[in-house]
Formats: sequence, structure tokens, C-alpha cells
Amino acid sequence: MGNELQSHRVSVSDDVEVSTYLEIAKELHGEQPIFEPKPLPPGERESIIVIDFGSQYSMLIARRIRECHVYCEIVPYDTPWERIASLNPRGFILSGGPASVYAPEAPLAPTYIYERHLPVMGICYGMQVIASQLGGQVSPGEKHEYGHAILHISDEDCPLFTGLPSSLPVWMSHGDQIVEMPLGFSALAYTENLPNAVMGNSEGIFGLQFHPEVAHTPQGKNIFENFVYRICGCQGNWTPSRFITESIDKIGGRVGKRKVICALSGGVDSAVTATLVHRAIGDNLTCIFINNGLLRREEPERVLNTFQRNLKLNIVYVDAGGRFLERLRGTVDPEMKRRLIGKEFIKVFEEEAAKLGKVDFLAQGTLYPDVIESTTAETKAAVKIKSHHNVGGLPSKMKFTLIEPLRYLFKDEVREVGLALGLSEDVTGRQPFPGPGLAIRIIGEVTQKKLQTLRAADWVVMNEIKKAKLYRQLWQSFAILTDARSVGVMGDYRTYGYLIAVRAINSVDAMTADWARLPYDLLARISDRIVNEVPDVNRVVYDITSKPPATIEWE
Ligand code: XMP
Repeated sequence: MGNELQSHRVSVSDDVEVSTYLEIAKELHGEQPIFEPKPLPPGERESIIVIDFGSQYSMLIARRIRECHVYCEIVPYDTPWERIASLNPRGFILSGGPASVYAPEAPLAPTYIYERHLPVMGICYGMQVIASQLGGQVSPGEKHEYGHAILHISDEDCPLFTGLPSSLPVWMSHGDQIVEMPLGFSALAYTENLPNAVMGNSEGIFGLQFHPEVAHTPQGKNIFENFVYRICGCQGNWTPSRFITESIDKIGGRVGKRKVICALSGGVDSAVTATLVHRAIGDNLTCIFINNGLLRREEPERVLNTFQRNLKLNIVYVDAGGRFLERLRGTVDPEMKRRLIGKEFIKVFEEEAAKLGKVDFLAQGTLYPDVIESTTAETKAAVKIKSHHNVGGLPSKMKFTLIEPLRYLFKDEVREVGLALGLSEDVTGRQPFPGPGLAIRIIGEVTQKKLQTLRAADWVVMNEIKKAKLYRQLWQSFAILTDARSVGVMGDYRTYGYLIAVRAINSVDAMTADWARLPYDLLARISDRIVNEVPDVNRVVYDITSKPPATIEWE
């Protein structure tokens, strides 16, 4: 049968309509609906593949699937089947995208999407792609539709809707719409403006005109659950413990008896990376922890305590604060500060690595959002806002083979893996801290004295936020030492002291952020304590700007 299928293979560029293929498939397989999921041997690898047409929400789709404990990867729409086959896909999701499907160069789905007999769910543009490729018709809508709509389900037996009420709020964002569905498809749900807001056929191919992945579609998660479990037949075996076992096997197999180094920063990503590699190869891993003198109060001690004393990792500790401060002397430009710190870090790292003799591998805590961003960066014109010096992305000229065990994880998954590895909440729940450290939270020149001032103020912020039990809830909370000074009065004396700014933000991925509405009492306590406990500071302000237009860090 496989050969017969091959001989009927059609491609989007061929003259043959893809819908012809579906007719052929029906002949070969009968009318039996293929969304009756085929059972999978327990423990077998499974995945859902998101075919990306450039939607700003593709990453969200992947997160929603992973929240169902099903492994999911995002691939560009022109990815060859061979790249995907090894992931053992159980279904496909076609993402939204900015194009119009009837435009001459519009991206279309690869033909294997329709040839593999796997369920497909097209979202927004993805739905229009399905409609267009299978012989339906898509046209510009009379008006563009953005925002809330109420979805009315007309086919309550459809497994996509199991457990959902007959009407539910959804989020729309489209200009085009389907005016004629392809043969074999029927409308499964409608909205006031759209008679076919959801379409489907008996082969497990669905199209949704709305976005189930965004928070504005509150029951979107149920739709994804229905798709992956009821329609694709997934088992939901993507769990932290499975990831840990697979990673340890993989790292052990790749490295053997050779040596690995890892730059430890104290943050959750490098901590989880180092712990995984350590589990796999033990003392053949050496971690280099560089104290650049720009860390927060008690940070070096905390890192050494956790990783050297408790977890027994092999750590080379380098106290390089003096070198960094010397490099930074007289520098006020934020980009220059970042560059100098980045360069110095590479220098120190190279010197220390050279002392270790032959090392073949470098372990890095690269995360999935970085991977996605770098694969799409070539096609998207990106304007540089700030150069990010991630401890991870550093020594490109160094001759190491990379090990990136977290390459396919989101930040919250990294935290879960960390917990499953036995790391404490203090490590896994740590708020992000930038590589250039306090240098980009001191406006103007960085000096030892200013570092002392900022460390003391930051300590108060952290302490009060933790006491208020808000630390885990906030994406970041910290102090900034501005270069401004203002007049104040203390006792009977005039003061002329520094201005400290406090920043606390909520965010899910640091791409956008909202300033946190901290209680006034808490802000009052932070302010009182800072002006009382930190010498040279006589005024505190709270930063009430979101990102955009501001960034999270001040420099
Ligand atoms: P911005 O300031 O660009 O920050 O809104 C977004 C997130 O990235 C962190 N950040 C950095 N992290 N090296 C890092 O490792 C850097 O140079 C750097 N600059 C900013 C920032 O703390 C926030 O979480």
C-alpha cells in the first residue's frame, strides 16, 4: 500500500490538486475516519508538529501542547519530512501567519501533511491553507475581525469539542475568510460573522478560524487537549522525569569518557544544565564560575554553597571582580559596558579552560525561545535594541562541541526539570538576572562604591518582596542606582543623595512586561528601609513603565 501511495504522490507545485490525493486515499483506506487514533505502544516517543507560517503566536501553540504533556516542536513550513519523521509525529498544527493564501507567493503546507494520514488542525491562516490546498475558496472578508467573539458549536459530537459548553468566548484575528469549504468538509461551529468558524472532515483534518492558543480564548486548553488526546491519540508522556532519563542517556552516550566544561552563573538555566550533565558524566564535568564583581549581595557564596558543597559539582571559582571593574573604569555608555563585560568574560573563561587540559565539549543552557528566535532571525529584519551577553552564547571561536540539553525547553519546563532533579526552589524559582549584572543597573560609571550602594538597596527590595510572598509571582524585582541626585533633609541636615529606582514587573517571557501594581504599604516599607539603611540615598521612586515602550533593565 505504501508503494501505491507513493505513486499517487502529489505536490503543491504540481498541477494535480491536493484534494485529488484525498480522493485516492479514501479509495485505498475506505471511508473509515482516520481520527480514530491508532494505539501507540506505552512509552513510545510521540510529538505534535507545529508548521510555522510566521505567526506571532506559534510559540504559544507549542506551549499549550507541552502543557498537555505532549512533546511539540515548531518547524518552518518548508521543513522536509525527513527532519520530522524521527520525532514520531502524531499530528500537525498549521499556525496562523501574516500572508494571504491567495497571494502569489503565499506559503503553503508541505504535501506530507495530507499524505501521512495524521490529524491536522489549522489555526487561522493555517485553516485557510487547508481550505485553499484542498479545493475550497478563501477571499478577503467584508471587514477584518479582531477581538472577542462567541463561538456556537453546531456539531456537539465532534471530539474536538468534548467537555465544552455549546457556546464559548474565542479570540479572532483575521482579514480573510473561507467562502467555500473543500469537498468533504462541514462547518462544525459558527460565530455571528462566520458561518464556518470551525470546519472538519472525516479524516481528522480541522480548521479553526479563531486562536485557541491565546489567553483570550479561555477554553482553548480544552481544545488542545481534545486534539492531542482524542484526535491524535497521544499518551501525554512528556514529563520532566522522562526528559531527565532521556537527556542523561543521550549526554552519556555522546560524551563517553571525554571532558565537558560549563559556565555556571547561578541562574536556573545553567544550574539545570550543569546538574543534568553531572548526572550523566560525574566528575568529567568541570564548571567554571566567574565572579565578575557585578553580582548581588551574597550571590557568590550562595552559588558555591549550593553547587560545590551540596551538589558536589566540580567547580573552578574565579574571583575576577577587580579585572572587570578595571575594564569598566570611565565607561558610561550602556552598549560599551555590555561589550567590555562580554569580552572580559570570554578572556577569563578561555584562560581557565586552557588550564584544564583537553576538553571536548561545552555545555550551555540555551532555551527553546532562543533557538526559535535564531532560526527565524535570518528571515525577519530585526533591529538591535540591546546586545545580550548570555553566558551561553559566548565562545564561538573556541573549539568545543556544544551540548545544549535544554535546547527544546521553555523556561517553566526548565524549572520543573530542576525540581525533578532535586534542585531547591531557591535555585529553580530564581528570578532572571542579566549576564552583565549590576553594571547595567548602575547608570553611568560603575565604581566599587556605587556597587556597594546598589547591593544594599537591592537587598532591601528582595527582602521585602520575599517577605510579602511576591517573589515567585513577579518575573523580576530589583533596584536601579540612577545617576540623579536630589536634595533632602535628614534630622536637621540638608542631604544631597542618590536616587534609587525600584522596578517590579510581571511577564511570561520577558518579550513584553507589565509593571507590577505592588501594594502601597509594601512600596512604603521598601522606600523607608532604603533611605534609612543605605548610605548616600535619600529618595526612592517606583518605575511605572511597561515593556514596550521601556525595557526591563534600564541599560
Ligand atoms: P530587557 O531589558 O531587554 O530584558 O527588557 C529582557 C530580559 O533579559 C534580561 N537581560 C539579559 N540577560 N544578558 C542576560 O543574560 C543580558 O545582557 C541581558 N540584558 C537583559 C533581563 O533581565 C530581562 O529578564
